[in-house]
Amino acid sequence: MDVRGDFLVIGSGIAGLRAALALADAGDVVVLTKADPAESNTGYAQGGIAAALGPDDSVALHARDTMAAGDGLCDPAAVDVLVRDGARYVQELCDWGVAFDRAPNGDIAFAREAAHSVRRVLHARDATGREIARALWARVAAHPRIRVCDDALVTSLIVRDGGCVGVTFADREGAVRVADAHATLLATGGAGQVFRETTNPAVATGDGIAMAYRAGARVRDLEFVQFHPTVMNVAGAPRFLLSEALRGEGARLVNAEGEAFVSRYDPDGDLAPRDRVSRAMVREAQRTGAPVYLSVQHLSPAFIHERFPTIAQACRAAGLDLARDLIPVSPAAHYMMGGVATDLFGQTSLPGLFAAGEVACTGVHGANRLASNSLLEGLVFGARAAAAMVDGREVSVWPEPPCVSAPAARTLGADEAVPDDAGVRDLMWRQVGLLRDAEGLQSAVSTLERWEAASQQRLARTVQVEPAVRRTANLLMVGLLMARAALRRQESRGGHFRTDFPAHDDVHWKRHVAETATLP
Ligand code: FAD
Ligand code: SIN
Repeated sequence: MDVRGDFLVIGSGIAGLRAALALADAGDVVVLTKADPAESNTGYAQGGIAAALGPDDSVALHARDTMAAGDGLCDPAAVDVLVRDGARYVQELCDWGVAFDRAPNGDIAFAREAAHSVRRVLHARDATGREIARALWARVAAHPRIRVCDDALVTSLIVRDGGCVGVTFADREGAVRVADAHATLLATGGAGQVFRETTNPAVATGDGIAMAYRAGARVRDLEFVQFHPTVMNVAGAPRFLLSEALRGEGARLVNAEGEAFVSRYDPDGDLAPRDRVSRAMVREAQRTGAPVYLSVQHLSPAFIHERFPTIAQACRAAGLDLARDLIPVSPAAHYMMGGVATDLFGQTSLPGLFAAGEVACTGVHGANRLASNSLLEGLVFGARAAAAMVDGREVSVWPEPPCVSAPAARTLGADEAVPDDAGVRDLMWRQVGLLRDAEGLQSAVSTLERWEAASQQRLARTVQVEPAVRRTANLLMVGLLMARAALRRQESRGGHFRTDFPAHDDVHWKRHVAETATLP
């Protein structure tokens, strides 16, 4: 049986859930989500959600920090929406019962994270995403006009008369079905799984980007990937994030000699923006030939265990005591600043298709995202996209900041074997990772183009497509878009670092790299 609602939401993280709640006031909402509904980047979010609610804070200060982290490429209008509406929507979360940590006097206890000039981050110990999702799920589950279909893997967008009118999806038995609606929201999250080393869970395979691009929607800023510096690196243990909030509370990065080293590379030290801390770690590891560590040995063990119970548990499972041991860490792909280009209401360049959350490129993050601004973006722009979907708002002229195109796609034969996911992820990590150069990027683009062409041929030949085959095709598509954009941008800015162009170049590159597929 096919599915129909007034509104379709793809994904059940913070953006999808907040949007569904707003949409349900105006019509029937169908949420399609590809795995267990609780499985999302949102559920793993640790440090918290930023909002200018503290006594020493203001929306102007939050905007200033966001723009500084974005390294010259934020859209000021989008940032203004984020910080202004953000304070209101986070207050609404408090009203909905989200149990953010509080000081003994009952006031919100704000945490500090890198590149924030004041304590601004609301958190629920070190499992903020889980707590926010709990409260949103409680409301979604109680709403009679929201239907959630889990194990529903959306595989393509249906485009008719130049607009998106729904999607095809595979249900849990693998049967191909159709869901149609007046308006569709992509809230499919990020693409960390494109890289071998990542903090992201298995669902973060960039499906939304790949589907939107194939359907003719514009994508932007995909060269900007954030590599989080402090990810536990213990052989045989999962790569587990050690929240930046630890450094906000005084944790330090040290080398094998126990020496705090980041300030030798960066004047802002351990609380510099993530891309700079990550590069300092790589340089120090290269200099010493030894791993680097996160240390909280100088802080109170009782405080550390009480404030960071989830992280302490993950360390314990790897045989380490967070409070007493040096924890080996290295950077891993964490967040995608670019995505499906939208206006300030989540409208993509494809009529009928909206996008919100990590899959979208609203312009709030520019070249690098400020810590804890991502949950906020999902919340704010999920609600705004929903309002625009309800209004039936369509723009005739879709506004866009100055852009250049990524290199044109080449048409290739498809005589090559398609690699498995590990092959793609390994190549992306080595050649499109933290440190990039023309040679590696050119080689990555050539290889990914050949693999992508072969993967498309395989899809065209196959009647019953296995989910794993689709996943590889999406990883290839997104990896190729990232590599092409990274090759095009001949400078270093934010999350994008080129060893052959290590400086900013505002004259040529204070603009975006964007791409739209040429459809047959
Ligand atoms: P997600 O929460 O990732 O949800 C995407 C949903 O789409 C999932 O339900 C997924 O199953 C579904 N989906 C994907 N593809 C398909 C498909 N083809 N068909 C159907 N469904 C599909 N940000 C902060 O601001 N603060 C933090 O403290 C923080 N900590 C983080 C810690 C970790 C370990 C990670 C990985 C990220 C963290 N982030 C943090 C980033 C933040 O969690 C995410 O950017 C944000 O939650 C994204 O929300 P979303 O709703 O856009 O997507
Ligand atoms: C973290 O807790 O370090 C992650 C926060 C974020 O991604 O904003």
